[in-house]
Amino acid sequence: MSNLPVPRPFLKWAGGKTQLADALVERMPSAFNIYHEPFVGSGALFFRLYRARRIRHAVLSDLNAELIDTYIAIRDCVSQVIAVLSEFRPDKEFYYALREKDPWLLSLPERAARMIYLNKTGYNGLYRVNRQGKFNVPFGRYKSPKYLDQMNLLAVSQALQDVDILWTSFETVLQRAIPGDFVYFDPPYMPLSQTANFTSYHANGFGLCEQAKLRDVCVELSEKKVYVMLSNSDTETIRSLYGLPYFTADEVLANRAINCNGAKRGKITELVITNYRCEATNELPLLSERAANSVWNIA
Ligand SMILES: C[S@@+](CC[C@H](N)C(=O)[O-])C[C@H]1O[C@@H](n2cnc3c(N)ncnc32)[C@H](O)[C@@H]1O
Repeated sequence: MSNLPVPRPFLKWAGGKTQLADALVERMPSAFNIYHEPFVGSGALFFRLYRARRIRHAVLSDLNAELIDTYIAIRDCVSQVIAVLSEFRPDKEFYYALREKDPWLLSLPERAARMIYLNKTGYNGLYRVNRQGKFNVPFGRYKSPKYLDQMNLLAVSQALQDVDILWTSFETVLQRAIPGDFVYFDPPYMPLSQTANFTSYHANGFGLCEQAKLRDVCVELSEKKVYVMLSNSDTETIRSLYGLPYFTADEVLANRAINCNGAKRGKITELVITNYRCEATNELPLLSERAANSVWNIA
């Protein structure tokens, strides 16, 4: 197993944090106990930290059941996942036949292989389901999609061996995290503008209510002396939600889709909010300087 490459995210994921990973690592606490990532997605920060040997023990979770089953299958039966993937074909006909299959009637390795294949060969690596919960992303336009990266899957499996992987909503982290642990939250972002595509505050099924609930979870974790880092869009709503003495924010530059259909990209600022003082230089208090000074520091 020692000849394995360094593990990398095995899925493309909307809002994936690969390009922000360095900025996030710079803003982490220097030492912590258990690492929790309750919106794990493709796990860009987790894999970055694993490679840097910054993780002793981790709990990864997400509300997407197929995603979580894929992590579990790679951890527990990676050779079966690889065996199923090696039987697949990269053509349109095969894609639509596999897309039609109900994932919940497949075995765990088959379900994981289907998820990886659809993600790597479907349009833009999107994960989108219709009202009936059926995956409805069209076939992508790739010349030779690489849906079977055997060495990376083996490396990922090794990285996940001591990791707890849970299908659960973010607020349950309150039952697990204890003082000295570190929680990184990367929720579906608050939309930058309320355009026609966003029905009021409920884009992504993660609306203002959920954002406020997440802020309350961050407050409770702060009271428990758990380190918290959260990324989100730079909007008035997010600044005002986290405008409490527990938190400070740092602006980071990200290359993102800047209009609603994602066609136009550009640099925009995003917020990295922490409940501890980090060493990064452009940290800004969200409240007044006096309130920000009362932020506790357990480093
Ligand atoms: C911005 S993505 C995370 C991206 C991830 N950091 C990465 O590098 O790929 C947000 C994730 O939140 C998950 N999610 C949405 N609502 C959730 C909830 N209530 N609890 C936990 N996860 C949730 C989605 O399934 C999605 O994977």
